[in-house]
Amino acid sequence: MRTTPSAGSLYQILADDLTAAISSGRLPAGSNLPSLRECAIQRKLSLNTVTAAYRLLEDRGLIVARPQSGFYVCSELAEPEFAFRRIAKDVVGAAQEDLMTAVLEAQQRPGHIDLAFAAPRGKKFYPGERLARMTSSVLRRQGNVVASYAMPPGSELLRDQIARRSQRLGMDLTADCIVLTHGAMEALHLALRAVTRPGDFVGIEAPSYFNLYPLLSALGLKAIEIPTHPQHGLDVDSVESVLAEKRVAALVAMPSVHNPLGCSMPVDAKQRLAKLLNQYKTPLIEDMVYAELQFLEPLAPTVKAFDHGGWVLACGGFSKTLAPDYRLGWIAGGRFSQAVQRLKFASSASESMLLSETVGQFLKSGGYERHLSSLRRLYFAQVATVRGLVAQFFPGGTRATQPAGGFVLWVELPPQVDSLKLFHAALEKGIVMMPGQVYAKGPRYRHYLRLSCCQEIDERFTSAVRTLGELAVKMQKDGNKAPKGR
Ligand SMILES: Cc1ncc(COP(=O)(O)O)c(C=O)c1O
Repeated sequence: MRTTPSAGSLYQILADDLTAAISSGRLPAGSNLPSLRECAIQRKLSLNTVTAAYRLLEDRGLIVARPQSGFYVCSELAEPEFAFRRIAKDVVGAAQEDLMTAVLEAQQRPGHIDLAFAAPRGKKFYPGERLARMTSSVLRRQGNVVASYAMPPGSELLRDQIARRSQRLGMDLTADCIVLTHGAMEALHLALRAVTRPGDFVGIEAPSYFNLYPLLSALGLKAIEIPTHPQHGLDVDSVESVLAEKRVAALVAMPSVHNPLGCSMPVDAKQRLAKLLNQYKTPLIEDMVYAELQFLEPLAPTVKAFDHGGWVLACGGFSKTLAPDYRLGWIAGGRFSQAVQRLKFASSASESMLLSETVGQFLKSGGYERHLSSLRRLYFAQVATVRGLVAQFFPGGTRATQPAGGFVLWVELPPQVDSLKLFHAALEKGIVMMPGQVYAKGPRYRHYLRLSCCQEIDERFTSAVRTLGELAVKMQKDGNKAPKGR
């Protein structure tokens, strides 16, 4: 049976349970929660436990206490709708790259609060001490490890652990089909080089991982955007028409926890997609960096799980689950494995054996699995909290996704709010956010932004989201006042 994660203590279990009821609509916006005493009696809990749970829900911005009248569910945020149904061509543009550079520069500024950074940040999210001990132990026990060149495909220990873990996602990878890469980014790079030639068209999701656009342009590739539903991911009917017309050399997609949408494709859609790829003999580069951060367990299978002919190139990594600086990724290239291995050798030869063995040991010890289950609970609660803050502080008409995993929220602002202007206004106040314009050429995502929820939600974070919301409210008002036609 699939279960929703729950935190260790009773009050957290109750808070997570009520959060899930609110998120799923079982407790709709504006509804009245049972009083503290009623809830304590119904759930057979102490009054203190229920009080602590309700306080946590208030902190998450999900409920408000109204004097003399009890607790109410905060105004609900609708989810973004399926706005773009058209298959669009030539979607990679230089303006996006310039904007990305501006965001990256802003992230380097000291003293700012970064709501754009998308990797675990802070002690709560990263098992630093454990990994430091493991690094020392690898250095002690394998003294020569840093004195030689590792060769592709890289540490057998880590590849074997990745292969074992693949079963949790319904795959049956073996160590010998996996190549370690310099982050998942290099995995995507090698995969694209293995299956395309400059000038080819590649089918991508809309929106897509923002770094994919410069990668495609660096490889001389053109992209076709395939409509992607904010809750169900890639539209398989559109994929079928693109494949049938032989319009693309390959597809790139994130069917299990999409960035920035946070959604996963339904399992039957993944199965149908795998069948189509095999039928039309078209490779899919399946980016699964967030797949192990699905909120519900057991984890839903990937598309690769249904791929019988080796047409799926699975790409993963540890930046989102451990730490980005390890730069550890991997690829299982299916029928393109040999080409991938050759390209890796020509590209950067190998990955650091010290880091690969450290992470391999962590996986083998069971520490990674425990770390992942606590991360899932943590991110589930963090995303709900930030969603609550958005509901509280952002202008009326704002929508936000309800992610199936991971730690990012995709927010649709009212049409009067241009997210690039919001980015600049926020930057003046020391806040960095990811404007929607990096996710497509042209104005398509002008009213969208991505918020990361992978750092401590403390006073500073909350106040940054509040400021962002207030700026957006002001822009909406100014937009309403502006004379028509200008
Ligand atoms: C969807 C997606 N794929 C790939 C990557 C690249 O990951 P890595 O840091 O392992 O290169 C990222 C990082 O942001 C990502 O979000």
